[in-house]
Amino acid sequence: MRYASVTDRLAGLGGAKWEIHARARALKAAGTEIIELTIGEPDVPTPERYLATVATAMAAGRTGYSNGRGEPAVVAALAARYTARRGRAIGTDQVMCLPGTQTTLYAVLRTLVEAGDEVLLGDPMYATYEGLISQTGARVVPVPLRPEHGFRMQVADVAARITPRTRVLFLNTPHNPTGAVLRAEDIRALGDLARAHDLWILSDEVYEDLVFPGVPFASPLDFADLADRVVIASSISKSHAAPGFRSGWCIGPAEFCQRLLPLSETMLFGSQPFIADMTALAVSEPSPVADGMAERFSRRAGLIGQALDGVAGLRVHQPQAGMFALVDVRATGLSGTAFATSLLERERVAVMPGESFGAGLGGWLRLSLTQPDARIMEATARIAAHAATLLGNAA
Ligand SMILES: Cc1ncc(COP(=O)(O)O)c(C=O)c1O
Repeated sequence: MRYASVTDRLAGLGGAKWEIHARARALKAAGTEIIELTIGEPDVPTPERYLATVATAMAAGRTGYSNGRGEPAVVAALAARYTARRGRAIGTDQVMCLPGTQTTLYAVLRTLVEAGDEVLLGDPMYATYEGLISQTGARVVPVPLRPEHGFRMQVADVAARITPRTRVLFLNTPHNPTGAVLRAEDIRALGDLARAHDLWILSDEVYEDLVFPGVPFASPLDFADLADRVVIASSISKSHAAPGFRSGWCIGPAEFCQRLLPLSETMLFGSQPFIADMTALAVSEPSPVADGMAERFSRRAGLIGQALDGVAGLRVHQPQAGMFALVDVRATGLSGTAFATSLLERERVAVMPGESFGAGLGGWLRLSLTQPDARIMEATARIAAHAATLLGNAA
């Protein structure tokens, strides 16, 4: 039978990147004890009051159809939240609610690009981004994010890759997997470049509330003169420990939202009112769990640095936000995939190979910070032992 070409473009861009995670889960199911540092899920349950809000809303009959933009209460709550956070008026006509950041990015990219277009994307990148861009037919143009710049995107690296086909500069701040947080001056320079070449700026800010203590957060949405070309996407998945609710949104120019609306209606025919009620509450108040996560993840990244940086040739990159730390294993001579595969087999520690996040992270590992401190410390001891064995200096 014949299939649409999108299935070819996405082949290998889905589950294949999570193979080590899947293998670890299979081993666990078969009874093997594994320390799992692969995916990043909040390390606390969804707060009780949000569960109660959903239950109350369902019991009150908030189970009917909604509309393509979002329930009025959550749209208003998001407009108020971003008006307060970004220091300038964001209207309800600039808000679109969609099921999670992932679907939001899918729909936004569908609205902005198509075959023949190019999207500038930092490399390393979150594992689903290539697929998100490729589904539209547009081409991914990787922009190297370098460890010597703290993995923050540099304007010269972007400028060198702009062509007449470039349409979108795709940012992710705070960044997964590197934990980099763009500074206001980075965004100012990138914004000027985007204006000069009439590019959209799409910014995935799902980790905004997980910046580590003392690290300032900046968004392209802070800059009024970029307002006609900036779209940001986010959700309650990380900030409110609620990934399974699939509740996200984008904020962009009113005209952009008007263009996106029929696509949302075509895809979804609206989201769930009872989840909208819970989201309206969640985004109207400071998250009860985000600061605690940021503090714990920051501390655990420090523990990994103390345990592994400079040990058996390993190097640790300290994140400024988010749920992950990076370990450079290139000195062992192995790729990230080969190191992670043998680490799982011999030491029963599951980590993500850097290669799952782009060629730019070849020879690195991504470690999730969501396990308790003691488990993290045990994992680092096993990683150090494994690296030492590989280097042939285990004694
Ligand atoms: C950078 C990034 N964007 C988006 C997502 C997906 O978020 P959501 O649950 O809101 O779809 C993740 C999840 O890990 C992520 O790391």
